[in-house]
Amino acid sequence: MNKKILITGSAGFIGFHTCDLLLRKGYIVFGIDNYSKYYDLALKKKRTKLLKKQKKFKFCKFDLFNKKKLNLFFKKNKFDIIIHLAGQPGVRLSFLDRTTYFRNNLEVFFNMMEICLKKKIKHFIYASSSSVYGDTKKFPNKEKDNTDNQVSFYAATKKCNEIIASSYSKMCETKFTALRFFTVYGPLGRPDMALFKFAKNIHLKKKINLFNKGNHSRDFTYIEDVTNLLHGLVKKNYNSLNNHDIFNLCHGKSVNLKTYISLIEKNLGVKANKNYISKQKGDVLKTYGNNKKILRLLNYKIRYRVEEGVRIFIEWFKKYADV
Ligand SMILES: NC(=O)c1ccc[n+]([C@@H]2O[C@H](COP(=O)([O-])OP(=O)(O)OC[C@H]3O[C@@H](n4cnc5c(N)ncnc54)[C@H](O)[C@@H]3O)[C@@H](O)[C@H]2O)c1
Repeated sequence: MNKKILITGSAGFIGFHTCDLLLRKGYIVFGIDNYSKYYDLALKKKRTKLLKKQKKFKFCKFDLFNKKKLNLFFKKNKFDIIIHLAGQPGVRLSFLDRTTYFRNNLEVFFNMMEICLKKKIKHFIYASSSSVYGDTKKFPNKEKDNTDNQVSFYAATKKCNEIIASSYSKMCETKFTALRFFTVYGPLGRPDMALFKFAKNIHLKKKINLFNKGNHSRDFTYIEDVTNLLHGLVKKNYNSLNNHDIFNLCHGKSVNLKTYISLIEKNLGVKANKNYISKQKGDVLKTYGNNKKILRLLNYKIRYRVEEGVRIFIEWFKKYADV
């Protein structure tokens, strides 16, 4: 319980929910975020404002790319665990703006690795992605499956993070844990992600674009299952962890996009106006992970079926959209 935790990307979707749960569990949590302009800043500021209501939360706004500020910050503050969720998400943008991905997902990651080494951080948990599996045909994906064929630069940065962390695990005492997140969704979610975009456009009675004619399927993972599992990892005794380990963080079911949209329609009480278009560059047809490794380690059972997760999301969305 007295472990001191730093969460990078605390104003982001997963970062916010992780801070929130750990604070409610009694941990002292420090958050860092640079409020990148990738999406609505008001939403990021709102998340920080909500976290600041809890006494044990401290926040510092700065860019982890800035080594000087980073080193100064670590001179003043000590941590046992870093949960590194800061980064540039999104597959599609990485075809257009590779520099931002290189900077925020690789150079920043390197800065964080150096911190682990110099500051003797005990446990470094970081965000990888299901996209490392590429456009595979073998399902469900297991952590040991081949990940040598990424189909976007975003995915390549995540795969690089895993390789870099593995090399640092041979140089320092830190235990490294990679989490391959599979389409995480929930309240206060990212406006650039499908659930949010679909809900918004269906609500506004606008057309929704269904890439690959809606024949995609995704392993949709509800945020509370993600944060519960992160809490489980934080509670773990460092000595029981491997030097570098990789886990899928997924629901363990693949849901067709059309089914997902029908759940949004049902909960919003509005029929969608669908526009079927072709597949986009970098999109994979299906994601479907095997989550047995992490569930076994943490003795956890996935709690949120997609029907329940979408219902809760839309309940939040209706209030948000009305504002
Ligand atoms: N949400 C998902 O479904 C999903 C799936 C796979 C992987 N991931 C990964 O998980 C992590 C968190 O995702 P998210 O959905 O919460 O994204 P998010 O964009 O909501 O959060 C990331 C946060 O990091 C901050 N940030 C970016 N660059 C920074 C920098 N240089 N210095 C300080 N802060 C910086 C941003 O301002 C943002 O608030 C990301 O690495 C993402 O790639 C997410």
